[in-house]
Amino acid sequence: LGGGLAIALERMNRIASARADTLERLRGGATNPLFDIYPALGDRIPWRPLGTYPTPLVEFALPFSTPGTRLFIKRDDLASRLYGGNKVRKLEYLLAEAALLRRDSLITLGALGSNHALATALHGAALGFEVDLALYDQPVTPFVQRNFSGFLAAGARLHYGRTIPGALLLARRIHRRRIAEGRAPYFVMVGGTTRLGCFGHLSAALELGRQVADGIMPEPDVVYAPLGTSGTAAGLVVGLKLAGLRSRVAAVRVADAIAANSLVLRYLAQDLADFLHAADPSVPRLTITSQDFDVLPNYIGDGYGLPTAAGKDAIDTAAAAVELDTTYTGKSFAACLDYCRNAPPDRVVLFWNTFNSAPVPRSRGRADAPAEFRHLVGLAER
Ligand SMILES: Cc1ncc(COP(=O)(O)O)c(C=O)c1O
Repeated sequence: LGGGLAIALERMNRIASARADTLERLRGGATNPLFDIYPALGDRIPWRPLGTYPTPLVEFALPFSTPGTRLFIKRDDLASRLYGGNKVRKLEYLLAEAALLRRDSLITLGALGSNHALATALHGAALGFEVDLALYDQPVTPFVQRNFSGFLAAGARLHYGRTIPGALLLARRIHRRRIAEGRAPYFVMVGGTTRLGCFGHLSAALELGRQVADGIMPEPDVVYAPLGTSGTAAGLVVGLKLAGLRSRVAAVRVADAIAANSLVLRYLAQDLADFLHAADPSVPRLTITSQDFDVLPNYIGDGYGLPTAAGKDAIDTAAAAVELDTTYTGKSFAACLDYCRNAPPDRVVLFWNTFNSAPVPRSRGRADAPAEFRHLVGLAER
């Protein structure tokens, strides 16, 4: 088991390298806050933009009175008109690596209504990749049905793995099959969380640092974000430190504790920080400690994907400003509102909206779904 884990980590940590001019061509003249501050990283790390940045910061009018507490929302839901949310920033690095390696297809896994799977299907197809999705069960909600319909509309090939281990094995089989067919598949880890995937929110936190420096919002005391596969929170933890912000990340656990916990978060963040310093010694050496983040375990309710009453209330509270979902952002916003209600005076709070708000394309209906899924997802007929 230890050996298997070491191999898995080694794979998750590998980042393809290329000549600086090749990487520059891949970027097509674009840049991002990370590469602006540390150009040597731009010469080392594959990246190509899929979104529009910076994403807006808006102040949210709290529906209760607080002694000076202000809440802002980072509108990463607006990151892309094709499909926004937190997966866009990760895919900018991962799909760039796939292109660099001359891969022609993508394989990833996710739950039946995975935002990550949908983002990969839509952005992957837009870049000309064929996309295979190995899916596992989750409670079927309207959000799940909407995304599942989006998979079909995006033209992704769907495979049913039932459980997470089942989907992982299936992904490996599909990978072998595609190679036997003469294709060149690229495997995208669940949630897009690898060392390279974590760069997305590292750069996002530097973007926030610029917005704070420009006076768009005051320095946040705390940044709320969901904790799923932990890549988003890990990137933010490292990026906020690099940006010189004292903001603490409040990572709201929305997935099972075996995958979403402070050990995983700390590992990913420290690994990223160590890599950065080794790749470019002008990046300060950082030590990630428990002072840098909190993992909040009390908002998941009965489990991943199962709506909670507090989450639904939070979705209603947010509705005039942003649409949140029952699996990730509703639960996280519930935690954020609780904090604002009881915060010490004059706190500045930032809610990082990781959900997509672009319209999700819909398939024609049930008939498009492969047979093994039809009984699971009662797709709305049009
Ligand atoms: C809307 C949304 N928010 C948050 C997350 C969690 O991000 P991460 O997996 O990087 O922890 C996900 C996906 O996993 C998501 O789809």
